[in-house]
Amino acid sequence: MVNKFSRIGFILAAAGSAVGLGNIWKFPYIAGEYGGGAFVLIYLVAILFIGLTVFLAEAVIGQNGQANVSTSFVVISKSKNPNWKLAGFMVATGLIVLSFYSVVLGWILNYVITSFDTLPTKAEIAGAKFENLISNDIGSLLIYHTLIAGSVVFIVLKGIKEGIEKINLILMPLLGLILIGLLIYAFTLDSFSQAVSFMFIPDFSKIDGNALLAALGQAFFTLSLGVGTILTYSASLPKKTNFVKSSFYVAAVDTTIAIVAGLIIFSFLFEAGAPSSAGPGLVFISLPVIFSGWGILGHIIAVSFFVALVFAGITSAVSMIEPALRFFIEIFKITRAKATIICGSTFYILGIVALLSMSKTYADELTFFGKNAFDIMDFMTSSVMMPIAAILTCVFLGYFVDKKLLEEKFLAHCSSSVFNTWYFLIRFVVPIAIVILLLNKLGAI
Ligand code: TRP
Repeated sequence: MVNKFSRIGFILAAAGSAVGLGNIWKFPYIAGEYGGGAFVLIYLVAILFIGLTVFLAEAVIGQNGQANVSTSFVVISKSKNPNWKLAGFMVATGLIVLSFYSVVLGWILNYVITSFDTLPTKAEIAGAKFENLISNDIGSLLIYHTLIAGSVVFIVLKGIKEGIEKINLILMPLLGLILIGLLIYAFTLDSFSQAVSFMFIPDFSKIDGNALLAALGQAFFTLSLGVGTILTYSASLPKKTNFVKSSFYVAAVDTTIAIVAGLIIFSFLFEAGAPSSAGPGLVFISLPVIFSGWGILGHIIAVSFFVALVFAGITSAVSMIEPALRFFIEIFKITRAKATIICGSTFYILGIVALLSMSKTYADELTFFGKNAFDIMDFMTSSVMMPIAAILTCVFLGYFVDKKLLEEKFLAHCSSSVFNTWYFLIRFVVPIAIVILLLNKLGAI
């Protein structure tokens, strides 16, 4: 089959999936809320021991299953019990995440366009602009959501090699260039050293159980785990490719970009004397006001910054739909075009529900149990379905797959101490950590 990644293609595509709004938007604001350095340290530990462990788990299942999530689980299980097909439920998660991710990418695309000519000069104006966009301007929201959804569909229609690999080969280097440019600019500001201290000097006073769980949740989200994305991409990885090394590279690129984004954003914030704990509005409200004070340069930086976010987000978005596409193509034996129409319209419509649920006009109809549809989709996926899928993946590999098989696959590429550590983590540490995360999200602890 020609439709396979090259090794570099896989690394770029998996890194493209991993690097997204999670790195540039979410990571800095969570790190800001939990006081910086100490949170960053905990996050690094979570990536290395928990995130990477599950990443390797999905990679080994995918690379050896060479099929969609359901089939891969059955193929590599000890018993070949067809019930393992049920693991395929996780491909639905990607579609739901994509529906609201596309809406948020739409907001950002709107910011790319508007940042060319106007930037808000005060926090109140910036806040009102953002509020107006998400709660009143349904027309714009629909247009931008449609543009994003259309691009995603257009790319994935072309398949792994010509669609996904190609777009990553183009957008990832461009994203890297923009971030390097922004980092260089941040470096010239007096506040850069303050940003470095904020990110790297740990202050444990703001760390509590919630910070630990936030770091853990973020490690999962940023590595695109628990929806079969990494598994499905790995299923297009030639069987001989070193999946261990490739996984390390992806985690390293992802972590580096999160840290670089943090340094850039905190330098900008501190330069303007703005607080580091502005929450989700940080990128949409605090930053544009700062950019507005920098004249024409501010417009250039604003546009570059939001373009970087769009690039990062598009390469993630295509990775959210791919598990469902491969599932539909192989299980229902339909063409890629048909699968794309089915999955594309599903997430597009769900996205419309999500965006309407935040508008003033439809909020009442689309609010259930005190949460609007957007928040429900976010909660159900990030807090419930993704952790459950991750627990299932760990328990599956730890107890229902032949250890000899795993050992053989790992030892072809790494030392036995790496394998033994991974095997111990996947059997005991990671499932317990995620069960705690899940119970906490469900309000049980
Ligand atoms: N990792 C991406 C980010 O940080 C988001 C993402 C892409 C994702 N694919 C995913 C999240 C699959 C969950 C599941 O923005």
